[in-house]
Amino acid sequence: MNTSSASFISLLLVSSLLLTNAQTTPPLIRGLSFDFHRTNCPSLETTIRDYLREIFSSDFGMAPGLLRVHFHDCFVQGCDGSVLLAGSASGPAEQEAPPNLTLRPRAFVIINELRNRIHRACGAIVSCSDIAALCARDAVFLSGGPDYRVPLGRRDGVTLATVNATLDNLPFFGSSARELAAFFLNKGLDLNDLVALSGGHTFGRSNCASFVGRLYPTQDPTLDPIFAETLRRVCPSNTSSGVTPLDVRTPNIFDNQFYVALVNRQGLLNSDQDLFTDPTIRPIVTRFANNQTLFFERYVFSIIKMGMLNVLTGTQGQIRTDCSRRNTVTTHLTTGVDEQGESAAF
Ligand code: HEM
Repeated sequence: MNTSSASFISLLLVSSLLLTNAQTTPPLIRGLSFDFHRTNCPSLETTIRDYLREIFSSDFGMAPGLLRVHFHDCFVQGCDGSVLLAGSASGPAEQEAPPNLTLRPRAFVIINELRNRIHRACGAIVSCSDIAALCARDAVFLSGGPDYRVPLGRRDGVTLATVNATLDNLPFFGSSARELAAFFLNKGLDLNDLVALSGGHTFGRSNCASFVGRLYPTQDPTLDPIFAETLRRVCPSNTSSGVTPLDVRTPNIFDNQFYVALVNRQGLLNSDQDLFTDPTIRPIVTRFANNQTLFFERYVFSIIKMGMLNVLTGTQGQIRTDCSRRNTVTTHLTTGVDEQGESAAF
């Protein structure tokens, strides 16, 4: 057995131990706490939940759209709100890297509108990255998924990632499960995290470009033939521009049906279906397909863990007064808002 197979098997063993002794919350990073804004902005969480409930009632797609923004934020440079930054004269923004081109533009508008409402009520003390993490939580809860408390206290970064750094840090839809496992491990996320977080694909949509490689020129044999036929109608050629749900069974509900689809070879992305094809990872998929409560518990654990990747805390970074641009000295002087008695650092 080579070293990489040995370490993969040890990872699997550790992961299955974790799966049987599921803890609900990972240890919090120093500087984050559940009560960070409890006294200085008590209306924070109700402002977000009430506003999103209203938005989702007419535009349900914003729920998956907001969850994906938080994921793309955290995997690139950590959860520092960098994906929210618009481009500058000095070069293309993180938002212009190919995987970010299919983020929904309205999700950025919603986060900034919430920032506006929250800063009007409490002062500029809540970061855009915290707001994005809370939006991701409410996107899941308001779609039928679990509710959970989000550790808060993140601060916003002042730099954007380059297009290449963004590409290097976001997983690719054509990856095998093994490749994804290594990719996630590099971020400190294990196999349970990989499978539970891939459950984010229980709602939302995908463009043809992300899966036509499984239809043309030859059909992927792991794809259920009847499902493949439906997909061919959505994407009649390898250049089609259609969209289709990621979870064919319950496209707008956050539930465990995504895993049931994988068991039935109806996963849309290669990266999703291969979690079931891979014999070492398959047992985790099967357990989530059979037990929604277990999936919800593991999802909560893993999304909280993901939401703490390389966060800025304390006096690092800043609290942006507009999520799409970093503060200038002038914006700070004109707002004159301190966080918990400290001057914000730039
Ligand atoms: C495991 C590796 C992952 C890969 C390769 C991947 C890839 C993708 C791709 C290709 C799409 C469709 C983009 C398009 O064509 O429009 C997508 C959509 C989506 N992803 Fe992932 N993703 C991964 C993990 C995650 C994670 C960890 C989450 C969140 C926890 C997530 C949440 C979403 C959501 C909610 C959508 C639908 C967005 C919408 O409807 O606007 N993904 N992902």
